[in-house]
Amino acid sequence: MNLFDVYPIYDIEPVTASGSRFTDSNGEEYLDFYGGHAVISIGHSHPHYIARVSNQLRQLGFYSNSIINPLQQELADKLGSVCGYPDYQLFLVNSGTEANENALKLASFITGKKGVISFRNGFHGRTAASVAVTDNPRIRAAINPCDHVSFFSLEDLNGVDEVLMKNETCAIIIEGIQGIAGINTPSREFLMGLRDLCNKYEVVLILDEVQSGYGRSGAFFAHQHSGIEADLITMAKGMGNGFPIGGLLISPSFESKHGQLGTTFGGNHLACSAALAVLEVIEDEKLIENARLMGNLLCEKLKAINQLVEVRGQGLMLGMKFDFNIKKLRHHLLFTEKVFVGSSSDPSVLRLLPPLCIGINEVDQFINCLTNSLKHEELLVD
Ligand SMILES: Cc1ncc(COP(=O)(O)O)c(C=O)c1O
Repeated sequence: MNLFDVYPIYDIEPVTASGSRFTDSNGEEYLDFYGGHAVISIGHSHPHYIARVSNQLRQLGFYSNSIINPLQQELADKLGSVCGYPDYQLFLVNSGTEANENALKLASFITGKKGVISFRNGFHGRTAASVAVTDNPRIRAAINPCDHVSFFSLEDLNGVDEVLMKNETCAIIIEGIQGIAGINTPSREFLMGLRDLCNKYEVVLILDEVQSGYGRSGAFFAHQHSGIEADLITMAKGMGNGFPIGGLLISPSFESKHGQLGTTFGGNHLACSAALAVLEVIEDEKLIENARLMGNLLCEKLKAINQLVEVRGQGLMLGMKFDFNIKKLRHHLLFTEKVFVGSSSDPSVLRLLPPLCIGINEVDQFINCLTNSLKHEELLVD
């Protein structure tokens, strides 16, 4: 049987990994500044994570959501205290798109409306409600209508206001920092403006923190840099350090009803133990502070690189903008310098999403590898 061939893949096969490095099937070691799409938060193969997940597997791997699973409450308590939303409610799912799907559904349930405001170049996932609010017609099929969605540029508060006046909108959905777009951060004023508009028109504010959350930006959630609170917050990637888990934080103003949401796998024993291990390591090793410090250090060192047009983002979610297509540079970094970095939908932006545990050595190694690569003028043209 063939695999359904939807992924363009690099000819490289990681077989073992530790911290911020992995080794391929030829024994070559790579510096991982991509974390498998921002998923590796506490580092590869963390011993506490391995112990907690394997102990759980030995005890009980799975049972459905129709029994008592105390790990779910343990996770809710821990997450509430670490993330700064202790009085919110938690609904557990398996992925980022599912978290957004449920957030949009809840917003529609509570308001009885269906209009959604979303932002250009944003990404929220590939299932029906999430892909409808994602500004990319290439991944939307005829079965995914989006005529209920209005897309605006970041910062366009007037446009948002005009649509809200029609009183048809259930939710505004926005990424804490736009990731796939090439690292675009909404301004503090813009997020505060959206919060005010949501209060005024009784619309649900959904912060998609699937990529920018879990400490990556140097705050638990990127929107917390702006001092606002969201009504619903969606999470996934860094939450399980590779174990599939997603979640939805729900404001106390939302009343739950049996049967309104549900999932077979969401919140299972293994997923909860992986997520608990992640939070324990984030706390013990002060990884949010480390993301802030290492992000600042990286930005400082990147400033000395002439070929860079702009460095954007916060913490360890950074976009490096050049004035050429980065495809050849990315290849060179990967195959010659052995550094894995990400691309974005902006062809001139390289994305850095390393594990939150990197230290000064990794920052220095990355800067050396980048500097070496940029000496090759043939890489710096389209
Ligand atoms: C901001 C954002 N939201 C949602 C998703 C979808 O997450 P998943 O691929 O886990 O469904 C992604 C994935 O890249 C994302 O970056």
